Amino acid sequence: MGIVSLPSSGMEPENPTRSQVLTLEEVRNELGDCKRCKLHQTRRTIVFGEGNEKATLMFIGEGPGYDEDVQGRPFVGRAGQLLTKIIQSINLQREEVYIANIIKCRPPQNRNPEPDEIQSCNPFLRKQIQVIQPKIICALGTFSAQTLLKTETKITALRGKFYDLEGIKVIPTYHPAFLLRNPDKKREVWEDMKKIAEWINNA
Ligand code: URA
Repeated sequence: MGIVSLPSSGMEPENPTRSQVLTLEEVRNELGDCKRCKLHQTRRTIVFGEGNEKATLMFIGEGPGYDEDVQGRPFVGRAGQLLTKIIQSINLQREEVYIANIIKCRPPQNRNPEPDEIQSCNPFLRKQIQVIQPKIICALGTFSAQTLLKTETKITALRGKFYDLEGIKVIPTYHPAFLLRNPDKKREVWEDMKKIAEWINNA
């Protein structure tokens, strides 16, 4: 299976020496009661991310919705329940992977994240990736895939292929919320998950 190289995305870990690598707790503390973008005015909770600090596989979604904003945890609403099933479909548990989002605060009325909001959050997502050092990132949906890979290519064209991000493989797939509206697309996500499982099992 070919690996597609993309131009620098600005998301690459900077290859820090071990002593420079923070813990997730330190990254969370640095984020603090973030007011770096306008979303702080309307959010209830910062949804930092959760899971295994040493995960091989990391999922990155778009941003918190209503349920996540209330609970302070990523992917806990209907789309989240489907994501949990998707993770389990490759014999992993939620606790074994790490789950985060491109932005950590819910946009009003769940509108799309805006470029300045993505930019404000980006350093913290990068630090989370640096700490976790996953082998594979599964980018969930358009915003995640396009932000991580710094491309405007459509998710339909991006999905199901491995991209290289400074040694980390990124495989985009459809967002679980999209699957809830388009259940016929589940087959493609299943194909993408099989590729991830195959890669992990052969690594
Ligand atoms: N959709 C996302 O992209 N992220 C969440 O955490 C929940 C829903």
